Amino acid sequence: MTDVSEALGSDIMTQTTLIADGERERTDVVGRTLPDFPVPAPLPSHGPARIVAMCNQKGGVGKTTTTINLGASLAEYGRKVLLVDFDPQGAASVGVGVNPHELDLSVYNLVMERGVQLGDVVQPTAIEGLDVVPANIDLSAAEVQLVGEVARESVLARALRPALDDYDVVLVDCQPSLGLLTVNALTAAHGVLIPLECEFFALRGVALLIETIEKVRDRLNPALEIDGILPTMYDSRTLHSREVVARVHEAFGDTLLHTIIGRTVKFPDASVAAEPITAYAPAHPGAEAYRQLARELVARGDTA
Ligand SMILES: Nc1ncnc2c1ncn2[C@@H]1O[C@H](COP(=O)(O)OP(=O)(O)O)[C@@H](O)[C@H]1O
Ligand SMILES: [Mg+2]
Repeated sequence: MTDVSEALGSDIMTQTTLIADGERERTDVVGRTLPDFPVPAPLPSHGPARIVAMCNQKGGVGKTTTTINLGASLAEYGRKVLLVDFDPQGAASVGVGVNPHELDLSVYNLVMERGVQLGDVVQPTAIEGLDVVPANIDLSAAEVQLVGEVARESVLARALRPALDDYDVVLVDCQPSLGLLTVNALTAAHGVLIPLECEFFALRGVALLIETIEKVRDRLNPALEIDGILPTMYDSRTLHSREVVARVHEAFGDTLLHTIIGRTVKFPDASVAAEPITAYAPAHPGAEAYRQLARELVARGDTA
């Protein structure tokens, strides 16, 4: 017996409906039943890590914000997390409190210099369980210098190999292009997460991105998976946001994650404070959304 007539209320991203006496069903924005994503069980030991690349050639879609806040959320759940800043802008580094102008060694040295090991460039952050390999503008030279290198697409994969034993998750924050740095991230990764701004033209680039992912899978990294598409900057006051998510669902089915990140000024505020939102405003819905993302990815088997 189901009576889906009475909507009991909703927050931004879910709707709760009375389906039988006292029984409630929660659905996501596109109407799919929203499973409970349980708090992940503690891990008895750490590693081997799964490497996840945060990828979208469009800038300003939430790659860096997702890298930082998913990382911080997984760390809250006891995971050992390594953030790899692979964008010469260095926004992920800044976002976790690293000053990119004061680096002796960065990810650039790690990928370009044989003598530099992962341990030489990893830095702890203020968040327990969350470390970072920082980047700065030096990395922009790597794109050019790598062109002449042997196995130029797999320098990052090689450099990250030692991290596999010590961490549960490695999150690589990609630059907004499909150039050689991003191809390196895709070659190193087990999975790709695609943050997608809930904006009308956002879908345009996704076909090209998926084509690139498939090329890398065919030629360089047969095990590469698309872990999910994450709608970001969702504005519940507009029909428009909802339509974009519905289009993504039509085109990509359950590659669309249940979790959606709402638009809120707390994210830029947290970046100015150089903290994850989970530390800056722990009770804010934006922090809770990234915790849910962490739980959803664990439940999907996309991370430990
Ligand atoms: N959900 C959100 N709501 C509002 N602003 C956001 C949200 N996510 C990110 N931002 C802001 O948008 C800008 C771009 O986000 P960022 O994560 O740096 O994107 P990318 O790494 O894809 O270029 C930043 O100023 C960030 O603080
Ligand atoms: Mg970025």
